[in-house]
Amino acid sequence: MRTNLAYQRCINPTCAATYDTGELHTSCPKCGYLLDVSYDWDKAAVPDKLSDFEAMWSQRFNPVRFSGVWRFHELLPFAPQERVVTVGEGQTLLQQADAVGKFVGMNAGQLHLQYEGMNPSGSFKDNGMCAAITHANLLGAKRAACASTGNTSASLALYCSATQLMKAIIFIGSGKISYGKLSQALDYGALTVQIAGDFDDAMIRVREIAQRLGIYLVNSVNPFRLEGQKTIMFRVLEALRWETPDWIVVPGGNLGNSSAFGKAFMELKQLGLIDRVPRLAVINASGADTLYELHERRGVRWNGGHVDLDPIREYNDHMDRHGIKADTLASAIEINRPVNLKKCLRALEFCEGVVRQVSDQEILDAKAKVGAGGFGCEPASAASVAGAKLLRREGVIAPSDRVVCVLTGHELKDPTVTVAYHTTDQEVFQKTLGSRGVTKASHANKAIAVPNELDDIIKAIQLYA
Ligand code: F0G
Repeated sequence: MRTNLAYQRCINPTCAATYDTGELHTSCPKCGYLLDVSYDWDKAAVPDKLSDFEAMWSQRFNPVRFSGVWRFHELLPFAPQERVVTVGEGQTLLQQADAVGKFVGMNAGQLHLQYEGMNPSGSFKDNGMCAAITHANLLGAKRAACASTGNTSASLALYCSATQLMKAIIFIGSGKISYGKLSQALDYGALTVQIAGDFDDAMIRVREIAQRLGIYLVNSVNPFRLEGQKTIMFRVLEALRWETPDWIVVPGGNLGNSSAFGKAFMELKQLGLIDRVPRLAVINASGADTLYELHERRGVRWNGGHVDLDPIREYNDHMDRHGIKADTLASAIEINRPVNLKKCLRALEFCEGVVRQVSDQEILDAKAKVGAGGFGCEPASAASVAGAKLLRREGVIAPSDRVVCVLTGHELKDPTVTVAYHTTDQEVFQKTLGSRGVTKASHANKAIAVPNELDDIIKAIQLYA
């Protein structure tokens, strides 16, 4: 008879092995599937209705309730409140973005952008990292590691520097990480290991090394991290006054977010806290489109947990045989072997999800629109807006639907791509974007060059503004 409120459970229904929360596994030791953090909700003090969480706002003097993650502690109660780690994450914003909505093809008032780049390290990762570091600290870990396209590493590095609880060790692919993200890891003092390979290679290595050296792994195969990422959806619901939107649109890389969002809605439904579940759209970059290929082209489904593994193996073999590597300017999602594939399939099934792919051109055009109509985002984040536009064009999303696009990372994460898009210098454009298949910058806001003469400067301003 289990007495703990929280435990870990294998997501494979024919295995369903359970483990104590005092252990860290990044896959089920019995069958190799991913694990969930599960709860005996009867033992938890879950509020009767979501609006009860509004009362937590009045307790913002308490760091636990200040946190946009731990404010919802009752919905992720794997650690006692007095042991949770927080740096003040989750103060993020849902913006009704009519200018971007027009670009997407939505009716006024219907498109919302969830700005997760407002987190302390500039991306949504902090939602999950505070949960992973809480768990690592409970286990007494002194070193924590991750492979990263840049944001997970920035987040881990920040939590380690700000809390001094443990040392960060990060693995990144060569030349694959944007300067904004690399500079964070270096500045925050993480041990930074640049391996000759891409993210998928780094991910395989870090799992081996974490296992061998007993280092705590914070990638999203860690089920505790995903508990924190559920709260992005809680905050979206809160901002919509607890009304469920019609669509959640999110970029897909390693598929941690989409998996966490699916789990959030599964639990809220099970707990009777929502009566309707939104549909989920996961958007790949076309140069890193494994989920799209498997879900939309090869028909791979969660199927109640009985995933047909053959098409997945065949596609992985195909990528190996042809040396296919992920390739997109949206470097955050430049991933071909998403570790959370099966959990994401579960989320897609539960949320009647769809998967789409968008080109780098579409991503950068959408990004420019987000910048011009809001607070901006990094390239990978704009895949959600480009994806919503595509789904609108296809008629899958109706203009009257209420849509939330999750903007996962901050505008300043990748200035190289942004400046190259807006540049007047053809060489810069060609080197950074043209060489990667982007042909135009239809929404560029080009700087104007003027002589250093008062009259010329005034003339230029009169002409353009
Ligand atoms: N958007 C941004 C800005 C990201 O950094 C990532 C993932 C994603 C979207 C994809 O999210 O993996 O949950 O599907 N970045 C990871 C990293 C892989 O290492 O920072 P996902």
